[in-house]
Amino acid sequence: MNTPSHTRATMLRRFNNVVYRYESVTSTNDIARELAEVGASEGTTVVADEQTRGRGRLGRSWVSTKNDGLYHSIILRPPIPPADAPVLTLMLAVGLAELMRGQYRLPVDIKWPNDILIGDCKLAGILVETEVMEDRLLYAIAGIGVNINQASFPPDMALHATSLKLETGRAIDVDEVRQKLYVTLDAWYDTFLTQGAAPIICRWSELSSYATGKPVQVIIGGRTITGTTRGLTPAGALIVEMSDGTHETIFSGDVQNLRER
Ligand code: BTN
Repeated sequence: MNTPSHTRATMLRRFNNVVYRYESVTSTNDIARELAEVGASEGTTVVADEQTRGRGRLGRSWVSTKNDGLYHSIILRPPIPPADAPVLTLMLAVGLAELMRGQYRLPVDIKWPNDILIGDCKLAGILVETEVMEDRLLYAIAGIGVNINQASFPPDMALHATSLKLETGRAIDVDEVRQKLYVTLDAWYDTFLTQGAAPIICRWSELSSYATGKPVQVIIGGRTITGTTRGLTPAGALIVEMSDGTHETIFSGDVQNLRER
């Protein structure tokens, strides 16, 4: 691990209390995991200017060029059973979507479970990695990436990625986005811990066009299904109705909007 500049902020919110800053890391999730393993407290955050091996869901990479985006990971230690951990992902997506809508006036959508989109283009993504021992969730690493100041993307990404700068027409301070995000995340995490999953599922469903009535194709492992979304289960899994009227519950998979493919 290279040497971070380490700050303790005076404001005692749950997030942004202890922040480890790096110029360059493989993945902020890697560093956060190392810190969690040696007992770092909830809310400890790792931020980097660039990632050399940024990763996304389903084994994909996350392009993390220097100073173009927000690359950060937060250690969470919620007292919940491992089965409830997927709701953390939805909670983070709700916080991000509300920030983008409220602060930046952007018409963002959430693609299940946690892609933040404008139209068909990805603005931000979330990768939650958990450590479980027997039936206990020891910690979760909430990795959040936001495309901020990219003026363009490589040809293979250009049709499917966007940035705050491309959407708003102005350069935006990366740290400003991070600080503002903590305010919404603080509030939603508190809601989750005090009221459980229901308000998160409810708000996610309001913010996402994928919640219900969306024709989708879903790749689950090596299998592909098509159907129409029919809401989330209380644990945040996606329900898809097939053409024969049967329902499938998706716990993990790659969802595509059938109309926009
Ligand atoms: C996805 O959309 O597939 C998830 C992307 C998550 C990217 C963030 S950037 C900070 C953290 N570190 C990583 O390596 N990944 C997450």
